[in-house]
Amino acid sequence: MSKKIGVLDSGIGGLTTVKSLQELLPGEDIIYFGDNKNVPYGNKSKDEILALTLKMIDFFKENDVKIVAIACNTISTLIDSYRDKYEFPIIDIISPTADYVVKTGLDNVAILGTEFTVNQASYNKLILKQNPDIDIISEGSKNLAALVDGGKFDDEETKETISTHLSNLKSKGNHKNLVLACTHYPIVQNIFLSYEPDLNLINPAYQQAKAVKEILSGKGLLSSKEKGSLNIYTSGGPDIYTKLIERLELKNVGQITTVDI
Ligand code: DGL
Repeated sequence: MSKKIGVLDSGIGGLTTVKSLQELLPGEDIIYFGDNKNVPYGNKSKDEILALTLKMIDFFKENDVKIVAIACNTISTLIDSYRDKYEFPIIDIISPTADYVVKTGLDNVAILGTEFTVNQASYNKLILKQNPDIDIISEGSKNLAALVDGGKFDDEETKETISTHLSNLKSKGNHKNLVLACTHYPIVQNIFLSYEPDLNLINPAYQQAKAVKEILSGKGLLSSKEKGSLNIYTSGGPDIYTKLIERLELKNVGQITTVDI
């Protein structure tokens, strides 16, 4: 039995979940889909996001997956609309992170995500349901995901955008824990830390990978292989993937294939 783990995102950001999966589950075969033709999703309507998401999950259905990780916060806010349409488990990225915030005993947390994610307020709801005393502030970004997806990992524009978001958050409260609530953001976490080295950055991709491991283990579906594979599919071009694979030091990369779904 060697079914794959499917990981999807609007673009390259979900490779942060792949990075954590490769650390926690090195024997798993991973298939990735990034919808780079349509990124960013954060400025689209709910119906547009849902239609694009179903196409990606259908692609995984045809490609023999045993589980799907929605490595996109924006798409994860809509999980209740599509999770039960498929036979395999579909894991969002928000609930494992909200659980982590609560279980760690944090009393304050800032959320930085796309405007869609922040407007949906899924983090707030899931955290406050478990502990109404946690102090939460949030900030939506119109363009940070697109800058990162465009490969602007070290550009002035990206630095200025992050600096503005950090100042906006500061004016809302002096919260020292920051959830990077868009999977594109951990790719440039060095910039966040260059402005505020004491920030406790929370990377949802790691929490999601831990949740995937727990679910596969609970179902007896973990791979028994020593070395897994990574095959990447995108509706865009391969160059940005090559660049990020190097930056994240991803392993066992096979093909990067452009497909239209
Ligand atoms: N990686 C997506 C997220 O986590 C990016 C959103 C977008 O495409 O705007 O929200």
